[in-house]
Amino acid sequence: MTRIAVIPGDGIGNEVTEAAMHVTEVAAAAFGIDVECQWFDYGADTYLKTGVGLPDGALESLRDDFDAIYLGALGDPRIADMAHGKEILLGLRFGLDLFVNHRPVKLLDESLCPLKDRTVEDLDFVVLRENTEGAYVGVGGIFKLGTPDEVALQEDVNTRKGVERIIRYAFEYARSHRRKSVVMSDKSNVLRYGHDLWQRVFEEVRVEYKDIESWHLFVDALAMQIVKNPAQFDVIVTCNMFGDIVTDLCAVLQGGLGVASSANLNPQTGVGLFEPVHGSAPKYSGQGVANPLAAILTSQLMFEFLQYHEVGAAIENAVRRSIVEGQVTRDLGGNLKTEEVAVAVAERISG
Ligand code: NAD
Ligand code: IPM
Ligand code: MN
Repeated sequence: MTRIAVIPGDGIGNEVTEAAMHVTEVAAAAFGIDVECQWFDYGADTYLKTGVGLPDGALESLRDDFDAIYLGALGDPRIADMAHGKEILLGLRFGLDLFVNHRPVKLLDESLCPLKDRTVEDLDFVVLRENTEGAYVGVGGIFKLGTPDEVALQEDVNTRKGVERIIRYAFEYARSHRRKSVVMSDKSNVLRYGHDLWQRVFEEVRVEYKDIESWHLFVDALAMQIVKNPAQFDVIVTCNMFGDIVTDLCAVLQGGLGVASSANLNPQTGVGLFEPVHGSAPKYSGQGVANPLAAILTSQLMFEFLQYHEVGAAIENAVRRSIVEGQVTRDLGGNLKTEEVAVAVAERISG
C-alpha cells in the first residue's frame, strides 16, 4: 500500500490537485498499484478560522505515516504576509529537511516552446535548487520601524554542510542518471562571503567527479544562457533564491507555469513533498481554467521517486499525447476545462 498525504491548499491548488489525483488513481489502477490518498485541509481557509497552518504533530505524522506528500499550492490575498505558507510549505521543507528541490525542465512538445526552432532534445535538464537555507531562513529584523531611518535586515545563510550536500547531490544525480554535466551557479563576484563558500565547495567536490563535466556561471549569465542555448545544460545546481527565480524562467520555456513540476526531497530520510512550481493564481481560482498538467506531471515525478518508473512513463506519454492532440487548457491554446484535461490524460493511460 502506497499512502499519499494530499494537501490541495489554496486557489487553483484545489482544482489542479483534484485533476492530478484523478490521473494518479487511474494510473495506479492501470498498473495494479494500491494507492491510498488522505486529504488534509491545511491552507488559508483553515488558517483564517483557527490561526493554525500546520497543526501540532502534523509534521511527524506526514513523515511517519505516508510515503509521499502532495501539495497543490498555497497563497491567498487575505493573508498578505503568507504566514500560513511559511508554516506549511517552508515548514515542511525545513522541518523534514528536504534539502533538494528537484525541478525538471523538459519540453514535451516543440509547439510549447516560445524560443525559435527548438526541438525537444534541446530542452531536457534539471535544476537542483538548495531548499533549506539562503535568504529563506527568515533570519533578520527591522530596526526603527516606520521611521525615516528604518533599517531592514534579511540574512542569507549558507552553511558548509548545506552547500556541500546539494552540490554533492548534483554530481551523484548526474552520475546515476547518465547526465554529462553539472553547472553550478551563484553570484560569488558580489556575495563575497556566502557565495564564496559555494565556489570553494564546488571546486573541492568537482575534482571527485572527473567523469562529469562541470563549470560555473554567475546567475545573470545563467539566465541569459538558458534562453540562448538551453541544450548545453544537463544539471544546474544553485541556491534557494536563484533556483526559485530561474525555474519560473525555465517553466516558460517548457510551455509555462501550467506545465512545470517539482519535488522536494531528502534522499536519506524518505518522504518527499511533491508540488507544481506554480502558485495559487488567485485570479483564476474557481473558474476551471487552470492548467492541471503541472500538477499531473508532479504526480508523475512522485511515482518516479516512489520507484514506479513504468507508471511515471505512462503518465508522461499520456500528457504528451494530450498536448499533441490539442486536449489542453486555454493557456496552451486549447479550450478544455481543468477537469476535462484530467479526463483526457487519464483516458490516454494504458497499463
Ligand atoms: P502563480 O504561479 O500563482 O501565478 C502566476 C501566473 O502564472 C498566473 O497569473 C497565470 O497567468 C500563470 N499560471 C500559474 N499557474 C497556472 C496554471 N496551472 N494554469 C495556467 N496558468 C497558470 O504566481 P503568483 O501570482 O506570483 O502568486 C500567487 C500566490 O501563489 C502568491 O500568494 C504566492 O506567494 C503563491 N505561490 C505559491 C507557490 C506554492 O505554493 N508552491 C508557488 C508560487 C507562488
Ligand atoms: C516556489 C514558490 C515558493 C518559493 C514560495 C511560495 C514560498 O515560489 O515553490 O517556487 O519561493 O519557494
Ligand atoms: Mn517560485
